[in-house]
Amino acid sequence: MFSDKTRKYLVAESREEFLKKFGERNFHVEKFMFGEVIFVRDENDVYAFENKCPHQGAKLDGCWIEKNKVVCPLHQYGFNVENGRGNGMHLETYPIIENKEGIYLERTYFSWFGE
Ligand code: FES
Repeated sequence: MFSDKTRKYLVAESREEFLKKFGERNFHVEKFMFGEVIFVRDENDVYAFENKCPHQGAKLDGCWIEKNKVVCPLHQYGFNVENGRGNGMHLETYPIIENKEGIYLERTYFSWFGE
């Protein structure tokens, strides 16, 4: 049986701990079992994306947010921060969930076997 599955990954136990990971930069990269994720700060907002540009596969380290788009540093293509769409391509985006237990990255993926 196949279906979409959603899984949460703990990123930090508090907002302070989470923001500390960025240091002086506007981004923070973290590896998960499914791949590398880049968290990008834009003033009070933080977004999460797959750390691989859909254009030519560059890492997004050094990217920035401009007019509701994350801009790849290599060729400056922009992708919508909410749905990852841009220039006829799609960048994977991940919701960030905050609750009493901490900060979580949420990932939805397709599963053939229900797991
Ligand atoms: S590799 Fe990102 S815009 Fe070209």
